[in-house]
Formats: sequence, C-alpha cells, structure tokens
Amino acid sequence: MRIVNATKHSHYGYRKSKHKVSPTMTSLHKSPLAPLLARLISEARASEDALAAQRAVNTADGGDPRTEDYRAFYARAKDLYLAVSPETARLLYVLARSSHAHAIVEFGASFGVSTLHLAAALKDNGGGRLITTEFEATKVVQLKRNIAAAGLEEFIEIRAGDALETLARDLPERIDLVLLDGAKPLYPQILALLEPRFGPGTLIVADNADMCPQYLTHVRGGGYISLPFASDVEVSMWIGD
Ligand SMILES: C[S@@+](CC[C@H](N)C(=O)[O-])C[C@H]1O[C@@H](n2cnc3c(N)ncnc32)[C@H](O)[C@@H]1O
Repeated sequence: MRIVNATKHSHYGYRKSKHKVSPTMTSLHKSPLAPLLARLISEARASEDALAAQRAVNTADGGDPRTEDYRAFYARAKDLYLAVSPETARLLYVLARSSHAHAIVEFGASFGVSTLHLAAALKDNGGGRLITTEFEATKVVQLKRNIAAAGLEEFIEIRAGDALETLARDLPERIDLVLLDGAKPLYPQILALLEPRFGPGTLIVADNADMCPQYLTHVRGGGYISLPFASDVEVSMWIGD
C-alpha cells in the first residue's frame, strides 16, 4: 500500500494535517466513522417516518420549511434528523474529494450526517476546515457528540445560531464547496453572503432546491453551470461573473 503525505496549501490557512493519506482506504469505510454513519443513517430513516406521521396529524400549526414560517417548523422538528439521502451524502464526499476541497461551508447541520461526510473528505484530502451552522440548541449538543465519536473535531467549526448572522463574518478567503440544507427561503440570502468568497470551480450543492424557485433561477442564470442531481438536489459550479 502506497502512503502519501498530506500537503499544505498555505493560502487556505488551515493547519497541516498529521494524518497519512492512504489512496485505497477512506475514512467512510473505517471505524469509528463507518459504524457511526450506519447507525445515524438508520436513525435518520426512522425519523423520516416520524416526520410523515407528524405532518399527517398536525398540518395547521407546524410551520413550513419552504416559507417564512420555517422557525416553527424547525423548532417542532428539533428531534428529527431531516438528513440528506445516503446518495446525496456520498455525492458530497465524492465532490469534496475530487475537487480537493479544503474550505467547506455548510448551512444546516442537524445531527451531522452531511457534516460527517464532508469532514471525512477533508481528512482524506489531507486537512482543511468545515464551517457548519445550526440554530437548534439541542441539535448542536448532539452534533458535537457525533463529531467527537467520529474523531473529526479538528476539521469542524460549529457556528451555533442563525446562519444569516453566523455566516456574515469570518469566512475563509476562498470557499471550495458549499452545502445548502437549512431553511429553504434563505438559500438566496446565504448564497449572497458566501458568493464573494467563490472562485472558479467552487461547488454548491443545494438539497431540496426545488423548494426555492428563486434560488434555482439564480444559479441557472449567469455565473454558474448548474444541473439537477436526482429529484431535488441542485449541483452548481461557480464560473465567475
Ligand atoms: C434539513 S436539516 C439538515 C440536515 C443535515 N444537512 C444532514 O444531512 O443531516 C436542516 C437543519 O438546518 C437548521 N436550520 C434551518 N435554518 C437555519 C438557520 N437559519 N440557521 C441555522 N440553522 C438552521 C435546522 O434546525 C435543521 O436542523
């Protein structure tokens, strides 16, 4: 097995990783991440059934992730995963690895299914930083536990609070990859906060992008090459003004 050393790109400002990178193994396939992800994905599936049941009995006062009433929805869903699909999770890992991403921003962490895939890619890329955001306090507690159990703390900065505020400051000079997976009406505003840090090739994955037509119009217009992945995920690449 050939072992290559991680390299450091100083302009990203991340610490040089002490990890050896093996070209034939990924963190996704090894303990502690593999069994942890298997459990989280199985719990996420179960929680989708709970969400469907909740929707069926309580549509009137439940809020809606597609509208300005999103806070009520996410408060009511504070025990639910609402995770990306396993396919989208693997897509995130693949895109982060193949683009050699070192600086990633995530809008909406929940319990960390997508977060752990992205951070695993950073580790396997030799280092980097994922800035992730979550405004439900109890989710932040569990998110921290899951990250610690995965041994990925050194790659992740959690910004607790509303992403409209937490992503309005202290961003990396260049962002390589973005996951948008928080409140859907905020996608255009969050993108506007991050866009000044994009460079040619920056990738943006937006889950449930079909719930925000304004976002789709933006990324399918100038500045991006954009395409749908599966039924509700939009993958876009910044090409510049
Ligand atoms: C769909 S879930 C994220 C799922 C996660 N990406 C995963 O794959 O496990 C959306 C999460 O974003 C959070 N969220 C929604 N709007 C937010 C905002 N404005 N700021 C911070 N977090 C937000 C919600 O509390 C919720 O946990």
